[in-house]
This record gives sequence, C-alpha cells and structure tokens, in this order.
Amino acid sequence: MDAVADRRTGDNRTRRARKGIFISIEGPDGSGKSTQIENIRAFFVEKKMDVIFTREPGGTAIGERIREIILDRNCTEMNYMTEAMLYAASRAQHVAQVIQPALEEGKIVVCDRFVDSSIAYQGYGRRLGDAVRIINDYAVNGCMPDVTFLLKVDPDVGKNRITARRGKKDRLDAEKRAFHEDVYRGYLQLEEEYPDRIVGIDASGSIEEIREEICRKLEEVLKRVTE
Ligand code: ADP
Ligand code: TYD
Repeated sequence: MDAVADRRTGDNRTRRARKGIFISIEGPDGSGKSTQIENIRAFFVEKKMDVIFTREPGGTAIGERIREIILDRNCTEMNYMTEAMLYAASRAQHVAQVIQPALEEGKIVVCDRFVDSSIAYQGYGRRLGDAVRIINDYAVNGCMPDVTFLLKVDPDVGKNRITARRGKKDRLDAEKRAFHEDVYRGYLQLEEEYPDRIVGIDASGSIEEIREEICRKLEEVLKRVTE
C-alpha cells in the first residue's frame, strides 16, 4: 500500500515516522488564540523557520465546506452527534491532507484548535462524553500535537472580548453560559490528564505578558526537539 492510499484509508500500518513539530492552540472563545497565533508567527519568522499555520474546523477545501455547515446560524436543528462527527470528519481530512504530510517533511505545524476542542466542546459542553474521544481517535489516526498551548481565561471574560470585537455571532457563540462553563471545565480536565503535552497559560493577563510566556515555552520546545 502506498503512502497516499495509506492516508486515505486511515490505515496506520505503513505510516512513516514524522520529523516535524506539531503545535496546537486551544482555549475558550475569545481567549486570545488568533492574537497569540500572530505572535507565534512572528516568533518563527524571526528564526527564519518554515511553519504552516492552519485551523479547525477547516484547513482544507473539504474542511472549510464542513465548517460552513457547522457554524451556520440557520442549522439550529443539528443533532449533537452529527456536530461531533462533522468536526471529526473535518479533522480526518485535515490530518491526512495537510498535517501528517507536513510533519513527515519535517515542517512545523501550528493549528488553531485541534482534538481537545472536540473533547471540551462536544464531550463536555454537549455532554457526549467518551464517544467524542473514540471517534476522534479514528480521525487523528495517531497524529497528536507535541505541545498544546491552552489559553486559560474565564469564559465570561472571553465572551466579553468577543462581544466588544464584533456584533455578529455564529451558532456556537450564541450558546448559553452554562455550556461555556462546561467547555472550560473540560479544558481544565484535559490539562490535568495530559500534563506532558498541554501547557496551561494564564490568558487573563495582557497580550504582551501572554506572548512572552508562549515564546519562553516555544524556546523550550525547540531546545527539546533539537537535543
Ligand atoms: P480567539 O481567537 O481565541 O477567539 P482573539 O485573539 O480573536 O480570540 O481575541 C478576541 C478579542 O480579544 C480581540 O479583540 C483581541 O484583540 C482581544 N484580546 C486578545 N487577547 C487579549 C488579552 N490578553 N487581553 C485583552 N484583550 C485581548
Ligand atoms: P471560530 O470562529 O474558529 O472560533 P474561535 O475564534 O473562538 O476559535 O469557531 C470555531 C468554533 O467551533 C468555536 O466556538 C469552537 C468550536 N469547535 C468545536 O465545538 N469543536 C471542535 O472540535 C472545534 C475544532 C471547534
């Protein structure tokens, strides 16, 4: 079986060893992910390192079409399991088409949200529990981040930042407060579960303070992988 067929079927028997670095950024809506991703971009530009920036849901042409369906405010009747499977479907395509090949070429991949978002939003927020972990095990096919920056901020603070930024809400922004509290609880649980991978960052401080902390951690990650 060649590498392309291998990726398409999700069969990992012939998957090649990867050499790149996979970084994901997580946190509640409005925690500052997009802002800090720009800072991470600047960090790597200064080091003249080749980095791919991508996002979920989306990151591929197919994934972007799935994203439109998921975030459409008119899709009010969407079943929670349908939603979880659409996120996972977008992720499976993203891993196979973009992330895994880039890592195999030795590139650095920075992803705005990844599997932890599904566990937090669908597993905890929608209360679908472990089913979300199981379907996502298939979607990621063993391709997990080397490091995940979790921007930790009270969901109310995140919500206020977003409301200040834009009047328009998508389907998930409009969710109730209790949902966002459950999502945040999910993130804190994940941080406890995966201390080697997830780096919790206090995101209630200033943009500059958070940037400095992320850059410090990135230096540590680079040192670790080049040793
Ligand atoms: P996300 O991508 O996590 O939804 P953004 O980076 O888009 O969040 O930030 C949401 C809003 O909050 C933006 O208007 C941004 O300028 C602002 N913001 C980001 N980080 C901070 C921070 N640490 N303190 C105050 N405002 C912030
Ligand atoms: P987006 O506009 O990218 O939000 P943000 O700027 O906060 O990252 O919208 C993505 C929304 O989708 C966000 O509310 C989180 C949600 N989401 C899930 O519920 N599950 C997932 O697996 C992913 C990747 C995102």
